[in-house]
Amino acid sequence: MKNKNRILIVGGSGFVGTQLAKALVRNHEVSCTYRNEFTALPGIDYIPFHGIHEKDRCTSLIQKVKPEVVIFAAGSNDPERAEKEVNQSQTVHLTGANQMLTAAEYAKAKYIYLSSDWVFSGMDGNFGEADTAIPFHGLGKTKLGAENYIRSRSLNHVIIRCAPLLGRGTLDHPSWVDQLREAGVFERPRVLSDRSIHNPVHVRELALLIERVIENDIRNKTLHLGGLTRISEYQLALKIFKTFGYDVKHLSPAKTGPQNAIQDYSLNSTQTLKLLKTEPLLLQQSLDLLK
Ligand SMILES: NC(=O)c1ccc[n+]([C@@H]2O[C@H](COP(=O)([O-])OP(=O)(O)OC[C@H]3O[C@@H](n4cnc5c(N)ncnc54)[C@H](OP(=O)(O)O)[C@@H]3O)[C@@H](O)[C@H]2O)c1
Repeated sequence: MKNKNRILIVGGSGFVGTQLAKALVRNHEVSCTYRNEFTALPGIDYIPFHGIHEKDRCTSLIQKVKPEVVIFAAGSNDPERAEKEVNQSQTVHLTGANQMLTAAEYAKAKYIYLSSDWVFSGMDGNFGEADTAIPFHGLGKTKLGAENYIRSRSLNHVIIRCAPLLGRGTLDHPSWVDQLREAGVFERPRVLSDRSIHNPVHVRELALLIERVIENDIRNKTLHLGGLTRISEYQLALKIFKTFGYDVKHLSPAKTGPQNAIQDYSLNSTQTLKLLKTEPLLLQQSLDLLK
């Protein structure tokens, strides 16, 4: 029988946090933090939490839950938002993540930090775990700062760099796909990057990876999680619109990026796939799961 762990998901009311909670509650005891609104799932304890950058608040949260595993899933993966809201982005992704790590260490909890493919430069693509991360965007710089702090401080951590995650969020925390579908239903125009390439992956593969990390007590590793297809946001939106039967005439490509060059942030997930011991989903299979 699998060991049941007490898991705290910081940012558990968000799109990713909710999907992780849904999967992990099957075998574990799960608590989720929220700041504003949340959609309650059965069997999960929801805890209001403000002041993520304050050491005392992080410590009292950890003392209350006494988790064996802390998953840091707070913040947003939107690089444009991070450029506009620099202070808020640093507060959550860097200061908050670091304070939470310090608190988690008192409880000797495993610390799982969700990072992203934005830590890379976008120059080459197919980035492996051993490749040097040189971020171009503020979000990537902040995430990398937190990664480096975690690596230097913790003896029981796992950093998971994720490609954009496909899945359905909640009414209060819609995913990127939900927002795109809303534009499709209400026939609102959307302009999307055709220059920035990622390899999106279904959020259920992240949940599976975290289950393996916990079950096998994997420590002090950085893992990459990306899908099999490298695709721009615009091309992906076209596929999603076709999957749901929306009119693609409302979508148009934005030519952004330095000198209009293609930037490829795709992640090489070879190490992670060995750990998962399952066949990765094809992009169309991931899109079919969204229906
Ligand atoms: N979505 C993706 O495709 C993707 C890909 C790679 C990595 N990630 C990482 O996964 C994490 C979650 O992303 P998401 O898409 O789930 O975002 P989301 O839906 O916006 O959820 C963010 C969560 O973080 C909480 N939060 C935000 N700022 C906070 C603060 N200052 N103090 C306490 N809680 C705060 C939110 O609570 P409130 O809404 O109540 O403030 C919410 O629970 C981010 O770190 C992101 O970089 C996501």
